Amino acid sequence: MHKIYNIQYTQRTHSRLVSNPIMYGRITRYVLFGLCIWMGYKISIFVQLVRHNYGSPQAVSTAKLVTLLKTLTLTETATVTVPSYITSTAYSTVTLASPGNGHNHGLSHIVIPVAFKPSQLIKLERSLKWWDVHPPCLDGSWPNRPGETNTTLTFLCYGRLTAGQRTKLQDLYWSLNWQVRRCFQEMEIRSADLDDASDNHNKGSRAMFESITSGNIGLKSPRYVFWMEPDAVPIRPDWLNALDRTCRTDEKFWVKGSTLRHDLNRQVLVQRYGQSFLYHINGNAIYNMAADEYPAFYYNTLLPYLDTIGKRHSHFDTSLAIYLQDIENVDHWRHIGHHFQYTELIQNRWGENYSVHERAIKYPNTYIIHGGVPQ
Ligand SMILES: *[C@@H]1O[C@H](CO)[C@@H](O)[C@H](O)[C@H]1NC(C)=O
Ligand SMILES: *[C@@H]1O[C@H](CO)[C@@H](O)[C@H](O)[C@H]1NC(C)=O
Repeated sequence: MHKIYNIQYTQRTHSRLVSNPIMYGRITRYVLFGLCIWMGYKISIFVQLVRHNYGSPQAVSTAKLVTLLKTLTLTETATVTVPSYITSTAYSTVTLASPGNGHNHGLSHIVIPVAFKPSQLIKLERSLKWWDVHPPCLDGSWPNRPGETNTTLTFLCYGRLTAGQRTKLQDLYWSLNWQVRRCFQEMEIRSADLDDASDNHNKGSRAMFESITSGNIGLKSPRYVFWMEPDAVPIRPDWLNALDRTCRTDEKFWVKGSTLRHDLNRQVLVQRYGQSFLYHINGNAIYNMAADEYPAFYYNTLLPYLDTIGKRHSHFDTSLAIYLQDIENVDHWRHIGHHFQYTELIQNRWGENYSVHERAIKYPNTYIIHGGVPQ
């Protein structure tokens, strides 16, 4: 009985379609429209693949850069009293990254350092949920218009990746809204290829950071790079553009980031890290990674200094604060201090749980909050 009913129903539907030309035409149009979308999608995947595999070649050779770096340091010695640890030779074996196509404007990368530890992955998943709520770019916004953008999203992994870990990251990325994914020119997964033995908080995060500053992992034409740890969360939409716009100023900078914004127990912090810690620019910052900008300072000045005082293994984002504690450095500092800037676009609020909504209202100029658990 039931079966017969089914057959009758199908026949009725069919005959209605054939005998109704308007309905028939409409369905044909829907099918054609669907086909077009499907083809467009395939073509865009093909174009992305081609772009990915045959991206732009590096503009400047490493040899040229090293020469450039040497000239820069020489010019400085002529005008500044340079402390003896400043050198262009000690770290000249480091292969520096190529600057971005002759200009330093715009955010070329968002780099997310990923350690495959459960606690880190939970933080990453939690943050990415807020990307869906607050898309990195919006229609009509600038400079990253959806589908027309120059920023690459890089997941930077600590050690060599297993196939399962790679799939996990890819799945995380593909589970993001289309609204989010189209704000990036491409997504890539890279490995700093580090040894698990050095994976402690200070040493490990400095080594990760150096894989970028040294150009070892080969980011494509890095310019301004936002270092975004898994516990950095966007609290309002269009945050990618806010970060990008702040790079497009006439005055170039080396590092732009947040000072300590959380309620502090000053005494404990000063005891543990020294007074300069209270003024450090937190690591979740924008770095000018063109080789002759921040990396030159990092390898020619900062690291040699840390070596002389035995602090090579301090946390990477406190290096500058340690450097500034030494009165001997002031003569050099007065020529370069303007390259380091504080911003309210990013807030470092370590260990504070918070309501995203309340923070967004309270701080209209803030887009990214680092630390704590968003509710
Ligand atoms: C994006 O990159 C292209 C090619 O380098 C450049 O012509 C264009 O101006 C860039 N767009 C923005 C908004 O920076
Ligand atoms: C913050 O939230 C986490 C997880 O929701 C919780 O485990 C932790 O105790 C909270 N911390 C504070 C200081 O409230």
